[in-house]
Amino acid sequence: MGLASSSNNFNYVYKCLIFMIFLAKFLLPLEAAVKTYQFDIQVKNVSRLCHAKPIVTVNGMYPGPTVYAREGDQVLINVTNHAQYNMSIHWHGLKQYRNGWADGPAYITQCPIQTGKSYTYDFNITGQRGTLWWHAHISWLRATVYGAIVIMPKEGTPYPFPQPHLEANLVFGEWWNTDVETLVKQGDQLGLPPNMSDAHTINGKPGPLFPCSEKHTYALEVEQGKTYLLRIINAALNDELFFGIAGHTMTVVEIDAVYVKPFTTQTILIAPGQTTNVLVRADQAPSRYFMATRTFMDVPIPVDNKTATAILQYKGVPNTVIPSLPQLPTPNDTRFAMSYNNKLRSLNTPQFPANVPLKVDRKLFYTIGLGANPCPTCLNGTRLTASLNNITFVMPKTALLQAHYFNINGVFRDDFPDKPPTAFNYTGAPLTANLRTEQLTRPRISKIAFNSTVELVLQDTNLLTVESHPFHLHGYNFFVVGTGIGNFDPAKDPAKFNLVDPPERNTVGVPTGGWTAIRFRADNPGVWFMHCHLELHTGWGLKTAFVVENGPGPEYSILPPPKDLPSC
Ligand code: C2O
Repeated sequence: MGLASSSNNFNYVYKCLIFMIFLAKFLLPLEAAVKTYQFDIQVKNVSRLCHAKPIVTVNGMYPGPTVYAREGDQVLINVTNHAQYNMSIHWHGLKQYRNGWADGPAYITQCPIQTGKSYTYDFNITGQRGTLWWHAHISWLRATVYGAIVIMPKEGTPYPFPQPHLEANLVFGEWWNTDVETLVKQGDQLGLPPNMSDAHTINGKPGPLFPCSEKHTYALEVEQGKTYLLRIINAALNDELFFGIAGHTMTVVEIDAVYVKPFTTQTILIAPGQTTNVLVRADQAPSRYFMATRTFMDVPIPVDNKTATAILQYKGVPNTVIPSLPQLPTPNDTRFAMSYNNKLRSLNTPQFPANVPLKVDRKLFYTIGLGANPCPTCLNGTRLTASLNNITFVMPKTALLQAHYFNINGVFRDDFPDKPPTAFNYTGAPLTANLRTEQLTRPRISKIAFNSTVELVLQDTNLLTVESHPFHLHGYNFFVVGTGIGNFDPAKDPAKFNLVDPPERNTVGVPTGGWTAIRFRADNPGVWFMHCHLELHTGWGLKTAFVVENGPGPEYSILPPPKDLPSC
């Protein structure tokens, strides 16, 4: 075999090398990477609007750090609580398949992380890519404890739209000059809403229309002719927001980390909890342009109506150029809100299909009500409250997921009614109180069979007042199959449902005096919170949860809890 064998050896080594390069290039990126983060909950002095105050932060940052990951990654985030408040963090929009332990809402999926304690959120990002966000999920601490989550598509998978030159996050928030936890406590005692915020913010900065805010202005430098992807997040506590950029149009390409059929618009509307990705082409004369956000509110309820601004700054333009403001819809422009939301359609391609449940196993109809309960010690003798199907959620003392997993009796009831106790003209003449207030000592939540398809119609009512409510479901995305003004008509409205390309999201607005129908397949076992994402209403009890049963066998059942899960 002499000479021939040496040449064969060479061939063999050569082929091995090629094979190894092939392996590295094509197989290694498919292996899940592990991303680790350390979140230190710290109190820090921060000043805005000429006021300085201590705020709760992650790693001293306001807003907090962005979590970057790729679809398929495992993410480990160790949260250590150095603040005087109990803490828990929610990864808003991540599905947390079988893994409610990492979801975060306090007393729903976990007991809070107490002062001096740590907990590691350990989760996989499967089948999701896009913009989501994280926030504190206890009391109103999310006022300052929040940040973006950016999930890149798998290596080698492009966006289904032209590759942008650069990307930037725009996170909207609300700023109070006084301590928010104190305000909430005072509001509770008086039975009234706490004072509204003193400013809106973009990336924690109110912008130059506010006093002492020149240096608290976010600016995004752009090059003429280039296209930018803006990842927009509404982290405000109570305000649905319009957003626009003077002189520029935006192309909406994604909502709540789901691609949509692109459409262009001057203004977007974004409710607390929602995210929206837009493409913006720097196609105007080089100058400085205001990006602005302001509240949408179509009922006469007092809100923070001040405009936060940031600057789209063309390269080379001096800071002395005074930017112009975009034209936003009037604050009560219901018509714009309806038509904007109607434009949102799932991309629905073979690669990104909209798997809308066509048959429904379980139909739910929940009424949203505000109310006033007698309260002798309160300012007006009443305390404002809120309910779903006339049930005001009472917070448990033990986390519901633990109670469910370990079969601890007496923590919750799983008989939340599928419809309201009494049918009435929901959106007719104003009614001044709850129809029948249930005095409960533990939460009532709804039990859902594994893998069943659920249709939930959320119906606004005129109990106290009609109002628009952004509802968020944990553990799932859902399809928004229909929406309308007035009372939902079960005989006529379903025929108008969009079952082809409805928007898929995790937070949806129920319009003022109207209804919204959503569908989802209950394929994620666990206990999943559902609530209005207006912190004011959540606090008043506008929340419930679904306990989704285990499926057949361990691979369709809730994972065992992590060893460091906090106890109450
Ligand atoms: Cu973004 Cu239960 O919340």
